[in-house]
Amino acid sequence: MDWGMKNRISRIIKKDGRTVMLAVDHGYFMGPTTGLEKLDETVNPLLPYADTLMLTRGALRNYIPPENDVPIVLRVSGGTSIIGKELLHEGITVSMEEAIRLNVSGVAFSIMVGSDFERDTLLDFTKVVDEAERYGIPVLAVTAVGKEMAKDVRYLSLASRMAAELGARIVKTYYCEDFEKIVDTCPVPVVIAGGKKTSEKDALKMAYDAIQAGAAGVDMGRNIFQSSNPAAMIKAVRAIVHKKATPDEAYGVFEKAGKGER
Ligand code: 5RP
Repeated sequence: MDWGMKNRISRIIKKDGRTVMLAVDHGYFMGPTTGLEKLDETVNPLLPYADTLMLTRGALRNYIPPENDVPIVLRVSGGTSIIGKELLHEGITVSMEEAIRLNVSGVAFSIMVGSDFERDTLLDFTKVVDEAERYGIPVLAVTAVGKEMAKDVRYLSLASRMAAELGARIVKTYYCEDFEKIVDTCPVPVVIAGGKKTSEKDALKMAYDAIQAGAAGVDMGRNIFQSSNPAAMIKAVRAIVHKKATPDEAYGVFEKAGKGER
């Protein structure tokens, strides 16, 4: 692995092998998602606690100050919406030249294993990998899941391993029972998405279980930015990912931070 690739990965995944990625890319297919209507007002106060920010180029340009040094993972797939007929039949939306111009640390692309569109998304994914590798940019594969597919260990380990075999340097998937199997059979770091907003306690427990099972961290969105207190929630997630906190200890961090205590 060359220096540039190593350097970029080390900006995303910290020295302890872990990362708290803040995912705020939802607008690329969901429009003004709850909590991100004015993305800067929600996200900018969270930047000191995020190891990495995952978003689109439009959000980056319009909402994030360029002086900020949080490493960026740029969403480079898209092309369909939640109201269209082919959700997640995604193609390449950003060139590698643009990614370099935006000084990103990584790019993210959704693959759709098992759907009618799997071949299109997998072949576009490998095109992105070829381009990104040429410039030492790691590609994070998002193992997107269609409504008709089960988010179980059989499916997610298949999709995660395929992503790594096709060139992903990091894989993002969903937490599920027997998550160890996904981590054990995937040769690159695995991070979990948060999924739909649930209670803070449940989201922290899921993050904890994923870390216990060997995940490198989270790439979490709604369970942070739709929390009653997003800053308190990201601090609590950090406690689990980087400080070995239990779910109860992390919830204590959430409550304390919510009261303005350190
Ligand atoms: C969509 C994504 C989102 O970034 C991802 O789902 C993370 O956000 P959340 O924690 O809200 O699920 O990659 O394909």
